[in-house]
Amino acid sequence: MAERVLVTGGAGFIGSHTCVELLAAGWDVTVIDDLSNSSPEALRRVQELAGRELRFVEGDVLDEAALKQAFDEHGCSAVIHFAAKKMVGESCSDPLGYYRTNVGGTLSLLTAMRRHDVRRLVFSSSATVYGDPAPGACPLAESAPLRPSNPYGHTKLCVERLLRDLAASEDGWQILSLRYFNPAGAHPSGRIGEAPRGVPENLLPSLMQAAVGRLPQLRVFGTDYPTRDGTAIRDYLHVVDVATGHLRALDRLPEVEGCTEYNLGTGRGVTVFEVLEAVRRASGRELSTVVEGRRPGDATAVWADPSLAEQDLAWKAERSLDDICVDAWRWQSANPEGYGS
Ligand code: UD1
Repeated sequence: MAERVLVTGGAGFIGSHTCVELLAAGWDVTVIDDLSNSSPEALRRVQELAGRELRFVEGDVLDEAALKQAFDEHGCSAVIHFAAKKMVGESCSDPLGYYRTNVGGTLSLLTAMRRHDVRRLVFSSSATVYGDPAPGACPLAESAPLRPSNPYGHTKLCVERLLRDLAASEDGWQILSLRYFNPAGAHPSGRIGEAPRGVPENLLPSLMQAAVGRLPQLRVFGTDYPTRDGTAIRDYLHVVDVATGHLRALDRLPEVEGCTEYNLGTGRGVTVFEVLEAVRRASGRELSTVVEGRRPGDATAVWADPSLAEQDLAWKAERSLDDICVDAWRWQSANPEGYGS
């Protein structure tokens, strides 16, 4: 019989792409999601793409009854935990909300896991835990200094530490935290993709909305960085590569002892202007830009050393920046309003 995995936040951007890959690989899937930043339409399309059904519990991870239902009635044997708030700006104005959902939600999930004797977990962390690396520090290995620079980043590091403390406190926990660099793109079918509510904060969704005419132009935050063209450098990786990273991690869990962290990145850094050019090529649209000052708290350059994940998880990002932009454009042009209201 297939094993069942519980995916918290499974209707979201990375969650939905991961569910497609899980179902395709033969896992049974239960999603718990409160739909606060996602749509049930995403889950409908996940099932259509995979040609299989998943089970859905509407609720958040602070909801004990919803978690009990997932573990008792559905019999999940492992968990992938995506459910979290993820906007840096909002985290500065609402730290209580961010700690409640991201840290409190994880506490609630771990308590339920222990109660149901489920100790296998893949946690959705972020390269935000590295903060603004010192000049010359990239590519960043997992051993690089951890110094997040905003409340969102603090909650991710706080959960990483909580997971380590828990795994050290009692035998049996098998936990992998995955530090994503900049997930972007969409499923190659164009049926699921990133659908942020309100004005997007991140670069790829902002570019896509400018290309499709929902935003008048791209605001370029800073052209005075000490980089090859003056704009900041990041490591963008295709969301389907992120999804397969979770599959590899899940496959690996039975051999894990305690808790370990892995980077998921490509190992290549590109500038804002290089991404802009790739989106122009993919969309065929002339995008207008306006140069603004640096966004407070932004790092100059952040890219991964992904070799540990390759060595231990047999995972490597396979898709290029052009793949990211072509797939993101297929999704955005076919679904200019995302999943609709
Ligand atoms: C941001 C978050 C990070 C989070 C990640 C998720 C900050 C400081 N960090 O990272 O915690 O984990 O998203 O993917 O917000 N840019 C523009 N114009 C735009 C949008 C972005 O020029 O309209 C630039 C930014 O200044 C940055 C680059 O594009 O240099 C990437 O920005 P973004 O997509 O927000 O990612 P990060 O800043 O890496």
